[in-house]
Amino acid sequence: MSGVIEIKSAREVDDLRVACQMAAETMLLVGERLRPGMTTDDINTLVHEDTLRRGGRPSPLNYHGFPKSVCTSVNEVVCHGIPGPQKLRNGDIVNVDVTTLFNGYHGDTSATFYVGEPSAEARHVTEVARRCLELGIAVVKDGARIGDIGAAIEEYAEAQGCSVVRDFVGHGIGRKFHTDPQVPHYKPKRDTPNPRMRSGMTFTIEPMINLGTWEVDVDTKDKWTVRTRDRRLSAQFEHTLVVTRTGCEVLTRRARTLANSENVDLLLASG
Ligand code: CO
Repeated sequence: MSGVIEIKSAREVDDLRVACQMAAETMLLVGERLRPGMTTDDINTLVHEDTLRRGGRPSPLNYHGFPKSVCTSVNEVVCHGIPGPQKLRNGDIVNVDVTTLFNGYHGDTSATFYVGEPSAEARHVTEVARRCLELGIAVVKDGARIGDIGAAIEEYAEAQGCSVVRDFVGHGIGRKFHTDPQVPHYKPKRDTPNPRMRSGMTFTIEPMINLGTWEVDVDTKDKWTVRTRDRRLSAQFEHTLVVTRTGCEVLTRRARTLANSENVDLLLASG
């Protein structure tokens, strides 16, 4: 991270939007195919093949040594779950985090899905996470502060009895998968940098919301899988967006409602 936040031209945003829409379409496919008995490796195969079919490349594959094409984070797994032989069971929740590289640009989006029928707790944390992303997106506009996003998210999550993960944040995105700015999902401390958003900045918002403590552990063996310290449930939604003069455009917005997830979709007005 260089500290300088890139402003993209309209043409660069056009290119980024194409990659973002490919990732969004792959997410829709995952929702349609998801069912109990599938393994997380089955999701990996689905995402990998769909991404290639569209002419893209899955950004996670070999990213800092990540061994698969998508992150699949089940139940107490907060993020960076590695697909494998684990079978999804009725009542599980699973976050699927898709990033597509196309024509030099990365488009990044994730959603938490219900496997079969969710418990009341699973539904609660998933609904809160989805609403947190929506509330974060709602404060984005030219001239507002990056820290306004986390302040809005944290206030809502805590009012709902949930906590916000602090160890992982949203990020600038474009020709690089992860770059400046960092986008915390909690209220920033007074002495931390809190840049203004400017039209043409592109970044993700991706709140990870826990039912219990915000604290997390990274798996000591695989060095990737992040779990809640208390092993209670965690959910997450993510979009890539571009700041505009009056608000933002959600570049990974979906053309249809996601199956097996929250019914209210993020078809937000473009700025
Ligand atoms: Co991301």
